Amino acid sequence: MEIIHISAECYPVAKVGGLADVVGALPKYQNKLGHIAKVVVPAYDTKFIRESEFEVTYDAWANYGNNHFRYRILKEKTNKLGFDLYIIHIQGLTDRPNVYGYKDDTERFVAFQIATLDWIVQWEHRPDVLHCHDHHTGLIPFMVSNCVKYKPISSVPTVLTIHNAQYQGQFGWDKLYYLPAFDLWKGGLLGWEDAINPLASAIKCAWKVTTVSPSYLDEMMNNARGLESLLRQERWKSVGILNGIDSEVWDPETDPMLSKGYNLKTVEAGKLANKTALCDVFQLDPSKPLFTFIGRLVDEKGADLLPDIFYTALQQHGDNINILVLGSGDNWVEGRLNQLKGIFAGKYNAYIGYNEQVSHEMYAGADFLIMPSRVEPCGLNQLYALRYGTVPIVRRIGGLKDTVIDIGDNGFGICHDQTSIWDVTHAINRAVELYNDKKAFKAVRKTMMKIDHSWDNAALNYIELYQILK
Ligand code: ADP
Ligand code: GLC
Repeated sequence: MEIIHISAECYPVAKVGGLADVVGALPKYQNKLGHIAKVVVPAYDTKFIRESEFEVTYDAWANYGNNHFRYRILKEKTNKLGFDLYIIHIQGLTDRPNVYGYKDDTERFVAFQIATLDWIVQWEHRPDVLHCHDHHTGLIPFMVSNCVKYKPISSVPTVLTIHNAQYQGQFGWDKLYYLPAFDLWKGGLLGWEDAINPLASAIKCAWKVTTVSPSYLDEMMNNARGLESLLRQERWKSVGILNGIDSEVWDPETDPMLSKGYNLKTVEAGKLANKTALCDVFQLDPSKPLFTFIGRLVDEKGADLLPDIFYTALQQHGDNINILVLGSGDNWVEGRLNQLKGIFAGKYNAYIGYNEQVSHEMYAGADFLIMPSRVEPCGLNQLYALRYGTVPIVRRIGGLKDTVIDIGDNGFGICHDQTSIWDVTHAINRAVELYNDKKAFKAVRKTMMKIDHSWDNAALNYIELYQILK
């Protein structure tokens, strides 16, 4: 089958969070199964587009409403990713240093979606499926089935994967004219409440809807920022498929970002070497259990509680624990996390910012990874932690609930029920107990590292889903 993944992010060319990791891995594993999976993303900062790596394959003009724009499709030509990657450069719209956060994001992603379909519609052959990821590509299912100019591809099935229903990309009806012509009576398929809602539209129009864990599918029925009733109505065509991880990129034995590679047999010495190197950089003590947090500093991740959680835990455990944070997001949280450095020097440190290398070093060097998320559709951090022998401390929610079993139930992680200071500090107490029981701690590490979360199974689940649509 030929599958076209359309997304705002794809590792390694554009990453904000887990969406990039999924779109940068799933197609590779679908190709390994003998299919042809390709990826289309916007071309952001042109500084990173090297001529040696990309070639222009298509150059044309398009428009959203009365706004004409030139777009160029560049194909990645090194073949090192395991799938064909196409980036769409739209001068003045996509080419910005950041992926999101501009006041014209609506225009940027509408233009990207129109350029994508304008390009695909003039291919000599038809792909077997258009797989859209999140709201940035959410207008595609509607446009494919309803816009006159896309009639030649109107029979191509569309699939929507919801990575996070909290973000829906709403914009006003005054921008309806941005879309290519369609019968106006079909306009209802675009809206939800008082706005055009790309995520809602995709839920209505896609042939299948998937989300990234079975538990999140259930949870969305009661918690999806206003889309609950729509999701319930469309549940018949929805399925939860747990994400995998790219076990070639995330392999502690071969990871080039680590100071020392390790595997199941050498995990103790390997983790100690990485922990020592990490503690050296961040002025921490490698003889203490090291707790970490890696992620976007937003309420959804429980980040607003982190400063108080860390303050309480460091007060309680005196000199017996160390904490290291890597993240960026809410300014208030960033400020408070920075403040703690002065109070707990030598026991606590924070890297405020985004750094892929440091994240790998932390998965390898840490003993525990905290994820007190309020919402977690899947979560990849805990899966990387498991693979690197770092015990996850997670709230029982969404994908965390589906992937981490508590040590009290013969599992390998520490689970708690609420996103609260009490729940997490209590979980940290349990973690310290585990750490001090060296035999149990070693056994848990080995159990975790043996779990297979690679994409092999999930990639097949998606293929089976597309096959039903043919
Ligand atoms: P989400 O997509 O909701 O942010 P996930 O757990 O699915 O959460 O994926 C997060 C991804 O982003 C992981 O690959 C994680 O390592 C990475 N990440 C998050 N914050 C940072 C950061 N500050 N520096 C480096 N990598 C980060
Ligand atoms: C979203 C979710 C996260 C998930 C990721 C990849 O960003 O917040 O839980 O792991 O998408 O599917």
